[in-house]
Amino acid sequence: MRIAGGTGGQSPSDRSPNAAEEIARRKGEHLSLAAEADVETRTAAGWDDIHLVHDALPDIDASDVDLGTTFLGHRLKLPLVISGMTGGHGRALAVNELLARVAERSGIAIGVGSQRAALRDPMLVPTYSIVRETAPHAFVIANLGISQLVKQDRESPLGAKDVATIVSMVKADALAIHLNYLEESVQPEGQTRARGAASAIRAVALRSRVPVIAKETGAGITREVALRLRRAGVKAVDVGGVGGTSFAAVEALRAAAHGDVARMSLGERFRDWGVPTAVAVLGAAGAGLPIIATGGVRSGLDAAKALAIGATLVGVGRPLLQAALRGEEAVVRWVDDFALELRTAIFLSGGRRSADLARAPVVFTGATKAWLEQLGYARRASGARSGRRSR
Ligand SMILES: Cc1cc2nc3c(=O)[nH]c(=O)nc-3n(C[C@H](O)[C@H](O)[C@H](O)COP(=O)(O)O)c2cc1C
Repeated sequence: MRIAGGTGGQSPSDRSPNAAEEIARRKGEHLSLAAEADVETRTAAGWDDIHLVHDALPDIDASDVDLGTTFLGHRLKLPLVISGMTGGHGRALAVNELLARVAERSGIAIGVGSQRAALRDPMLVPTYSIVRETAPHAFVIANLGISQLVKQDRESPLGAKDVATIVSMVKADALAIHLNYLEESVQPEGQTRARGAASAIRAVALRSRVPVIAKETGAGITREVALRLRRAGVKAVDVGGVGGTSFAAVEALRAAAHGDVARMSLGERFRDWGVPTAVAVLGAAGAGLPIIATGGVRSGLDAAKALAIGATLVGVGRPLLQAALRGEEAVVRWVDDFALELRTAIFLSGGRRSADLARAPVVFTGATKAWLEQLGYARRASGARSGRRSR
């Protein structure tokens, strides 16, 4: 692991146009597959096992319910972040611009996809920076992968200057370091050297001028890992659990297209590997950091349940990508439906604002109940949800 000044010690070949083109091609394939193919997990996120309890006599007008929240010191109009997905290839500019326009107008947060490609090829910078240009007031989250912070067989780790460039590229309010060892394990060109990963995160967190978010991408984060991340200096955790987009499935399809039968069956075998999102939220919330619930959040009602068990925000990926490919109106409609469902859930469970869900009664059933019991997770009454204290 190395976080130092300079370029991070990459050799000229690491920065070659060919390498940049290869990343761009891969990112383009991810986008097409995630938008069009059957890539969701077979295992559920757990929302159907979580039941908010109806209040037949609410003491507020539904229209007065306050959906706003505070995350890492920033006020958002809705507890929603458009998950970091894209950048660095042909279709990314238009998708990111459209999503950023909606984020700005709706007062929600937005992440960009891994910015490694733009470090290699500065021509790709606009596919990311368009987000900040279009959304000057939104909470914007920069993104880089843990594998880029750890020395790999053919690639040196990024240096402190590279990390600072990634943050300033989108004038970010926070930096997400994505943990995607499931994807890297299945990907034919995957990078699975992980020794020293926690100290690499600590080194970045120590020097970063914006808060660092540790972000899983579909296999979930346990309470134990969340506690280790907290000790490493991260200020929030995106649990990225099982129940939505499966990157094992995405990589299995890519492997199949490239004729790599072994990787294809590995990806299929591990399609549902990991901790379901609802379990991960409740577990990670015990570490006392603000939590983003991502992975299979498909409605405002799912979001209400996530907030009730410890999330501060929910993250949504694939549905918003698919909507963006249909056009801006589809994204706006998705966000409006989400807000109405969330408002209805808060109203009908007797709350006045999003944060009240954290104190609402909840009943657990089914597989989620079994997971919680066997991992020894109990729901917290309240917690460091807003991040105001942990900044
Ligand atoms: C096409 C696509 C590309 C993605 N690229 C990234 C990425 O570069 N960095 C990252 O942290 N997460 C990435 N993700 C993961 C999402 O941020 C999110 O965690 C995941 O899609 C689960 O949410 P969902 O079930 O709502 O789709 C990507 C997701 C999709 C669909």
